[in-house]
Amino acid sequence: TGVTTLTLRINGQPRTVQAEPRVTLLDALRERLDLTGTKKGCDHGQCGACTVLVDGQRVNSCLTLAITTQGKEITTIEGLAQGEALHPMQEAFLKHDGFQCGYCTPGQIMSGVACVKEGHATTDDQAREWMSGNLCRCGAYANILAAVREVAT
Ligand code: FES
Repeated sequence: TGVTTLTLRINGQPRTVQAEPRVTLLDALRERLDLTGTKKGCDHGQCGACTVLVDGQRVNSCLTLAITTQGKEITTIEGLAQGEALHPMQEAFLKHDGFQCGYCTPGQIMSGVACVKEGHATTDDQAREWMSGNLCRCGAYANILAAVREVAT
């Protein structure tokens, strides 16, 4: 009941998904489109694991209704690499060991991409502030910051 067909543009491809208006972008990605790179941590906008880009702006996909993203460009962690070439932020996370268990990593990387693109990574303090919405239970913060700063400079 109430199921509608949504047309979403994800990583440059048009995708259709059957979903009720209450379905979040996070659940649409993970459960209906098999794009499970985007992670569900808290489901309440507090951990950043679900971070994706919508028209280049970072959003918590758990707080965003899929229906509201129709006509916008959605970028997930699956869309960053170009063929075999990783995105510079992905390379930097590898180089600096910006993860331990890896669960928060897709969200960290998407936030990092937005951080650099929007010019919030010119100092450590600025980058730390921007990235503070992305929690890492393993405490890899120093290495995450190093990765983001490397791409910014
Ligand atoms: Fe969305 Fe935690 S799952 S902020």
